[in-house]
Amino acid sequence: MKGIILAAGNGTRLYPASLPISKILLPVFDKPMIYYPITTLMLAGIRDILIISNPHDIENFKRVLGDGKEIGVNFSYTIQKVPRGIAESFIIAEEYIQNEPCALILGDNIFHGFGFSSMLKGIVQKNSGATIFGYKVKDPERFGVVEFDENNNVLSLEEKPKNPKSDFAITGLYFYDNKATEYAKTLKPSNRGELEITDLNRIYLENGNLKAEVLGRGFAWLDTGTTESLLQASNFVSSMEINTGMKISCIEEVAYRMGYISKDDLFEISKKFKNEYGKYLERIALRN
Ligand code: G1P
Repeated sequence: MKGIILAAGNGTRLYPASLPISKILLPVFDKPMIYYPITTLMLAGIRDILIISNPHDIENFKRVLGDGKEIGVNFSYTIQKVPRGIAESFIIAEEYIQNEPCALILGDNIFHGFGFSSMLKGIVQKNSGATIFGYKVKDPERFGVVEFDENNNVLSLEEKPKNPKSDFAITGLYFYDNKATEYAKTLKPSNRGELEITDLNRIYLENGNLKAEVLGRGFAWLDTGTTESLLQASNFVSSMEINTGMKISCIEEVAYRMGYISKDDLFEISKKFKNEYGKYLERIALRN
């Protein structure tokens, strides 16, 4: 399965903080924001990852992440010239996907919770239709919204509805079979001029091929859309990491735990960081 991280927005809601560099490269506590979606894909077992950036920021992403070999993955890069919507990713990435199933994650979506990686692996193995994730929020009108029946079957999907039919936001993580590009090409731009991911998901729903998993209480899906929520995300990660002594979304650690790199590889990488991050990697390499 291929993976795509969409990191093409201009982050205007975070201006002036995101003027110098893409919002997706700003720190969330101790690491760049993009580490979080990268590890989500890695935990699903995805090793081929395409990063879609805007033309200004693409070189920064390449400088920060390189080709990925050091952590046992393959990063590729391409640009979205104009923000024409999330679903356009599948048209931009058509050649890259090569008719394989594909997962898409938005660069500013942070997921953390027990059992998440086994849930993801299950979805990848099943590999049919599309899978989205619903998460209960207090302000569903800010998101795509999924409505369920009593058996958790999806009844409807709406993008930023004025009167939401449920409290379940659709998170920015999506799994598709190999039809996503074909369907994305049939979409028409919405009122805001974008190819909406919710419209793509609705095609799967109409074909009886959409599944929605609920991320329950105790699970964290963090938003980084505003300066306040970005700070809250940093505070969440810092309190979890300080309490447990374990890092969230440490790409090198995940690479090691997934078996993409060896203990010796991890130890070598740890020497690059002459700080607490390096000591953490060293501890993981020596302990396990
Ligand atoms: C996008 C999607 C929306 C989804 C949200 C999750 O919203 O359109 O359905 O709930 O991401 O982060 P946007 O970031 O375009 O406002």
